[in-house]
Amino acid sequence: MKILIAGATGAIGRPLCRLLQADGHEVAGLARSAERAAALRAAGVEPHVCDVYDAGSVHDAVAAAAPEVLIHQLTAIPANVDIRRYERDFAQTERLRREATPHLMAAARAAGVRRVLCQSISFMTAPQGPRIHDESARSFTEAQHQFGPMVRATDAMERSVLGTPDVEGVVLRYGFFYGPGTSYSPDGGIVAEIARRRFPVAGGGTGVSSFVHIDDAAAATVAALTGGTPGIYNVCDDEPAAMHEWLPAMAAAAGAKPPRRVPAFLARLAAGAHAVHFATEMRGNSNAKFKRTFGWTPSHPSWQEGFDEVFATR
Ligand SMILES: NC(=O)c1ccc[n+]([C@@H]2O[C@H](COP(=O)([O-])OP(=O)(O)OC[C@H]3O[C@@H](n4cnc5c(N)ncnc54)[C@H](OP(=O)(O)O)[C@@H]3O)[C@@H](O)[C@H]2O)c1
Repeated sequence: MKILIAGATGAIGRPLCRLLQADGHEVAGLARSAERAAALRAAGVEPHVCDVYDAGSVHDAVAAAAPEVLIHQLTAIPANVDIRRYERDFAQTERLRREATPHLMAAARAAGVRRVLCQSISFMTAPQGPRIHDESARSFTEAQHQFGPMVRATDAMERSVLGTPDVEGVVLRYGFFYGPGTSYSPDGGIVAEIARRRFPVAGGGTGVSSFVHIDDAAAATVAALTGGTPGIYNVCDDEPAAMHEWLPAMAAAAGAKPPRRVPAFLARLAAGAHAVHFATEMRGNSNAKFKRTFGWTPSHPSWQEGFDEVFATR
């Protein structure tokens, strides 16, 4: 199959390209400059240079690549996110989701692309109802803190992907990436914060995270190239975990001291209401729909064993 990736050089793009190539697919990628095109070529990926904020430029690049499937993995997340400045640090990713997505979808439709797979996030559901949410839970678009703009931009992106006629829109709501090349890895930005004891368990740590090993996220993406029906799918491991469980476990796996514990009001003052949302009320996610539909099982079903494996190579 001819497959075009937007974001082929990113944390998921790299293992995804390798898997697709190993399966015998012809892989092309969008590049924002000649320099980035060279990085793609070095990875055996056919580059197509364009400006994702220019509709005509994207149209021409997608038409030239003429893929059967387009995979949208564009994000612009800093290596070291400052939780206190979440809105600032995610502004570029929000812009990509809002502005570049409609260009990619229009170009895909014009080029007769059969399916678009699009990276989204599983952890944006409203903090109500059960501890574990499936894809029917509504998004937290009314959030009044720094996470709000991200949820609203991601929701807009999903609507663009699912609402484009003639293209099978498949939204992959990944859990939190961990493993090589991510911020939850031995040299990752969040692990550095954990090692400095600057990532505390806040307000009891009852907020739930669903993780996914980066290689499982890539493999799930390959599984979603064909079959199933258009729509939204959670892609995460089998064991959603409360912060008071996973954070001490990650600190231990990374050889760091246990995290500090702080009351919610202090965390709100120090980092903001969004940080307290993540720590105390965020919901985890079920991967049952994706497994059932695409016959996928994660090779790292448990974050606990996955963390131990990732940090064993320290
Ligand atoms: N669900 C999750 O937990 C999740 C999801 C995504 C990312 N992350 C984390 O965020 C961190 C950074 O992610 P990342 O390594 O994937 O890097 P990134 O900086 O977010 O970039 C991802 C991809 O988007 C491309 N891109 C960014 N801005 C672009 C623009 N204006 N025009 C065209 N292409 C653009 C990049 O291309 P270039 O080569 O041109 O930079 C790259 O291929 C990692 O720690 C990762 O684990 C987590």
